[in-house]
Amino acid sequence: LRVSGGLIEPDGGKLVELLVEESQRDGKMREALSLPRIKLSRIDLEWVHVLSEGWASPLCGFMRESEFLQTLHFNSLRLGDGSFVNMSLPIVLAIDDAQKLRIGESKSVALFDQQGDPVAILKDIEIYKHPKEERIARTWGTTAPGLPYVEEAISHAGNWLIGGDLEVINPIRYNDGLDHFRLSPAKLREEFTRRNADAVFAFQLRNPVHNGHALLMTDTRKRLLEMGYKNPVLLLHPLGGYTKADDVPLSWRMRQHEKVLEDGVLDPETTVVSIFPSPMHYAGPTEVQWHAKARINAGANFYIVGRDPAGMGHPVEKRDLYDADHGKKVLSMAPGLERLNILPFKVAAYDKTQGKMAFFDPSRPQDFLFISGTKMRTLARNKENPPDGFMCPGGWKVLVEYYDSLVSS
Ligand code: ADX
Repeated sequence: LRVSGGLIEPDGGKLVELLVEESQRDGKMREALSLPRIKLSRIDLEWVHVLSEGWASPLCGFMRESEFLQTLHFNSLRLGDGSFVNMSLPIVLAIDDAQKLRIGESKSVALFDQQGDPVAILKDIEIYKHPKEERIARTWGTTAPGLPYVEEAISHAGNWLIGGDLEVINPIRYNDGLDHFRLSPAKLREEFTRRNADAVFAFQLRNPVHNGHALLMTDTRKRLLEMGYKNPVLLLHPLGGYTKADDVPLSWRMRQHEKVLEDGVLDPETTVVSIFPSPMHYAGPTEVQWHAKARINAGANFYIVGRDPAGMGHPVEKRDLYDADHGKKVLSMAPGLERLNILPFKVAAYDKTQGKMAFFDPSRPQDFLFISGTKMRTLARNKENPPDGFMCPGGWKVLVEYYDSLVSS
C-alpha cells in the first residue's frame, strides 16, 4: 500500500480539529462562564486533549449513546455514508446525579480544569446511563478487581455519561517541559511531509526502549527498504497520558528515549519522537486497536505490534491478563483498520549465545533469557546491570537514576 502523493488519509477523510479559532476565544470563554459547569479529572482532560487534536477522528466530542454502544459492541463506528472506522475504546465523560440535576435542561455545558479554568464547551449534549459493569466487562473482558484504569477512572465515577460536540477554547498544555514533544496529528503530518517520508511506521510504547523493541523498529525499516520505499520514517510514539503506578513516568521515559537516539540505537535522521496524549487502559487486544487507529490519523500507514501489546499481569491471578499473541492477531483482522499495514513481530528475548536481543527461537528455548519489567526494575533498583546488549548504557543509566530517586524520596 504505497502512499501516493501524500500520507494516508485520516479516518473519515478529514482530520477533526476542535480548537476554536483564536478570534473567537474570548467570546467562547464568556459563554463557558455562563454555562453549567463540569470539573474534569486529569484523565478527562487527557481525553479532551485527544479529541481536540483529532486523534479519534472523525469523532467530534465525548461519545453520545449511539457511539458508545457501537464502540462497545462492534469496536467501530458507522459513518453517514455507510462505511466504518475503527473505534474500540469508549471516549466518554461521566457525571454524577448532582451534576446531572444542575445541568437540567441546558443544551450545553462548560468543562473546567482542576485549577478552575474553563477548558471547553460541550454542545448539543445527551445524557445517558453509565453501565459501568458492562463497559468494564466488554472493554477488558473481565471485571476482576484491580484494573488500574477502572479503579482510577470508572469505579468511583458518576452513574451518567454526557456526550456532545466539543469546542476547546485553548490548546491543552501541561507545562512540564515536554509540551514541545506533544505534536498534534496535523503537526506530525507536516513533519512527515517536510521529511519527504514515503512510508511512516509507528511504534507505540509505554515502557523504556530496550534493544528488543529497537530490533522491531530497525527490522521494520529494513523490510520497508526491501519493499522499495526510499525514505521510511519511524514515529517513536510513547504514550503520555495516565499510566499505572509501577510504570516508569513519562519524563523519565523521555530522558531514556533521548539516550537511545544519542547512543545510536535508533537513527535521529529517520525518527520522529513525539508524545501520544492518550491515557492507558491496559485493555490488550481491544486497546491496541485504538493505539493503531489513532496513528492512522497522525499519518502512519505501518504499525508495529509485538508481544502482548497494551497487556499487563492479571490483577488477581498469577498470569498475563491476555494471550500474548491475541493483540497482533486481532489487529490484523480489525474492522476499520484495513488501510493500515500491520507488522506483527515475534517475541524478542536475550539470546545468550549471541549476547544480544534477538527473536525467540522455540527450537532452543534454553538459550534465551526473558527480562520482564519486574526483573528490569529489580536490577535497576539494586544497581545491578542487565546482560550486555539488553539496553544501551545511557538508557540504562537513566533507569537506575529513576529507581534511585524513588528510594531516596
Ligand atoms: S504497550 O502497552 O505500549 O503495548 P510496551 O511499551 O511494553 O507496551 O510495548 C511496546 C510495543 O513493543 C508493543 O507493540 C509490544 O507488543 C512490543 N513488545 C514489547 N516487548 C516485546 C518483546 N519482548 N518482544 C516483542 N515485542 C515486544
